[in-house]
Amino acid sequence: MFLPVIMAGGSGSRLWPLSRSAYPKQYLPLTSDSTMLQETVLRLKGAQHRAPMVICNEDSRFMVAEQLRAINALQSPVILEPVGRNTAPAIALAALQAVADGDDPLLLVLAADHVIKNQQAFINAIAQAEKLAEQNAMVTFGIVPTHAETGYGYIKRGASQDDAYKVDAFVEKPNLETATEYLNSGEYYWNSGMFMFKASRYLSELEKYQPEILAACKKAIGNTSADLDFVRVDKAAFEACPDDSIDYAVMEKTDSAVVVPLDAGWNDVGSWSALWEVNDKDENGNAVRGDFIGENSKNCLVYGSVEGRLVATVGVEDLVIVDTKDAVMVAHKDKVQDVKTIVNKLKAEG
Ligand code: GDD
Ligand code: MG
Repeated sequence: MFLPVIMAGGSGSRLWPLSRSAYPKQYLPLTSDSTMLQETVLRLKGAQHRAPMVICNEDSRFMVAEQLRAINALQSPVILEPVGRNTAPAIALAALQAVADGDDPLLLVLAADHVIKNQQAFINAIAQAEKLAEQNAMVTFGIVPTHAETGYGYIKRGASQDDAYKVDAFVEKPNLETATEYLNSGEYYWNSGMFMFKASRYLSELEKYQPEILAACKKAIGNTSADLDFVRVDKAAFEACPDDSIDYAVMEKTDSAVVVPLDAGWNDVGSWSALWEVNDKDENGNAVRGDFIGENSKNCLVYGSVEGRLVATVGVEDLVIVDTKDAVMVAHKDKVQDVKTIVNKLKAEG
C-alpha cells in the first residue's frame, strides 16, 4: 500500500483576488463544492493506500485539519514547515517521517491543487507506477503537451519499459524557444509534478545530488515536537536548508527516472483561463459560480463569491470577473497571466 504525500505549501498568486497568501488555491472550492485539497484526497478512492500525509505551512494547519476531517479522510499527522523551502525539502521531510519506524513505503507525491477529470485513468496510472517504483524507479507522470508552456518541466521519452518509458532527459521550465522545439518534436511529455518512488530511494538520490538538503532535513525532523495531529520540525534547522524544487534537485539529475503517460484530463489550474477551461459551462460558454445574469454575454468566467451579490453583464465576451469581499477584478481571458503584475504592485505598496 502506497503512502500519498500531499504537498500543500504553495502560495498561488495567479488566482488573485480569490487566492490570497493566507488562503491559497488548494484550500478553495474552485471546481466543485470540495476544495482542491479535498479533491486530491477524494480522487484516490479506488486505490489501496495508507492515510495521506499532508505537508504544509505552519499557518495553514487548522484549515488542513478541518478540511480533511470534513471528508472523513484517514489522517496521518500533518507535517508543518516553519518556512517554505520548496518541494525537495518538503518531500524529504515526508520521506524521513515515513521511514522513521523502520518502514519503507512507496510514496505517491501529489500537488494539492491539480484537477484530474478522469479518476479511473489516474488510478490505472498509479497501479502502473507502483510496479515500476517497486523496482526502484523514480516515476513521473507525463502529460502529452498541447502548447509550448514555459511553466512546466519537459520529459524526453526514451526506450519503453513495461508500458512506460525510460526518461532520456528531464528539463525543468525551458525557455520558449526550447519549449517550442520540444513540442514540435513529439518526443516530450509535460511533467505533471506528481511522482512515485520508495521513500528510501528518494532519500538516497537526494543524498547523491543535494546532500545539504538531506542533512538539513534530517536535523530538522530529528528534533520534532509532535502532538496528536501535527509534526512540527525544528525551525532553525529547517531555515538553514537550501531552497530547491524536486525537479531541479533530483529529477533533472537522476539516472533512474521513468515516465508513465497520463491521459486523464489533468490541469494544474495555473490561471483564471485554465479554470474557465476545466469548469462546466452554460449554453453560452459561461462558467459561473454564484448568481449571474448574462445578457448577450459569451465565454466568460464569473466567480461571485460574495453571498447574495448578483453579477450581471451585457454584451461582453471572454471576460474573467471575480467578485470578492474586498476586491473586484475584471480581466480579458487572454491577459490573465498579468494578474501577477497587480499582485506585485499591491505587495510593493504594502
Ligand atoms: N509543503 C510544501 N512546501 N509544498 C510546496 C512548497 C513548499 O515549500 N512549494 C510548493 N509546494 C507545493 C505547491 O502547493 C504545489 O502543490 C506543488 O508543491 C508544486 O509546486 P509549484 O510551485 O506549483 O510548482 P510549479 O508549478 O512551479 O512546477 C511543478 O509543477 C509543474 C506542473 O504543475 C514542477 O514539478 C513542474 O515540472 C511541473 O510541470
Ligand atoms: Mg504549480
